Amino acid sequence: MAANGSTRPTRLRRGFLIFFGIVFAVELATGIGLWRVHELREDGIEPPQWNGMVRALHGALTPVLAAQFGYLCALHIPGGWRMKANRLSGALMVLGFVLLFVTAIGLYYSNAQHLHASIHITTGFLLPFVLGWHIIAGQKWAK
Ligand code: HEM
Ligand code: HEM
Repeated sequence: MAANGSTRPTRLRRGFLIFFGIVFAVELATGIGLWRVHELREDGIEPPQWNGMVRALHGALTPVLAAQFGYLCALHIPGGWRMKANRLSGALMVLGFVLLFVTAIGLYYSNAQHLHASIHITTGFLLPFVLGWHIIAGQKWAK
């Protein structure tokens, strides 16, 4: 099905894009802070004072990202899937989100905490690059 600039069902509202961009950026920044704390801990060094604040912010944004993911599952992904548009990078985005959510639960409740932390951190660092690819590919497709 050919895409039409104004009717394509995948188009995201400007308000959502700004909201999502801010939340994702803060999650990434606080994730980088927590990664630093994680490294310090592994070297047996006491975590810095800002650890509690950064951890709280990172954790508090988790349900917000989950809600945004739900929004995309309802109003963005089905249309893209049907049109076979941006499927590969989109599927990797979904995989990345699912891995982050599952390993975040694992950080709390699993005995294999180290494994969950490694997958969480690796996925967290890779996801912004996949998102960049997804956005550029999406813009090319929409032209
Ligand atoms: C959908 C996105 C994300 C969700 C839902 C999420 C969720 C969480 C949660 C709930 C925790 C546990 C917090 C605690 O210790 O109380 C956590 C820890 C952590 N997250 Fe994320 N996170 C996300 C993205 C990221 C990103 C993008 C990065 C890195 C670039 C990252 C790096 C970390 C690190 C380093 C930890 C601490 C691990 C440890 O203490 O061993 N996260 N995350
Ligand atoms: C967590 C998963 C996903 C996130 C966070 C996400 C996010 C985004 C963002 C931010 C854009 C750029 C919008 C713009 O430039 O105006 C975009 C574009 C696009 N995405 Fe996704 N996406 C996801 C999954 C998917 C999937 C699974 C598909 C397809 C099967 C898909 C198809 C598209 C298409 C076709 C575009 C171009 C949209 C247009 O301008 O109409 N996305 N996505």
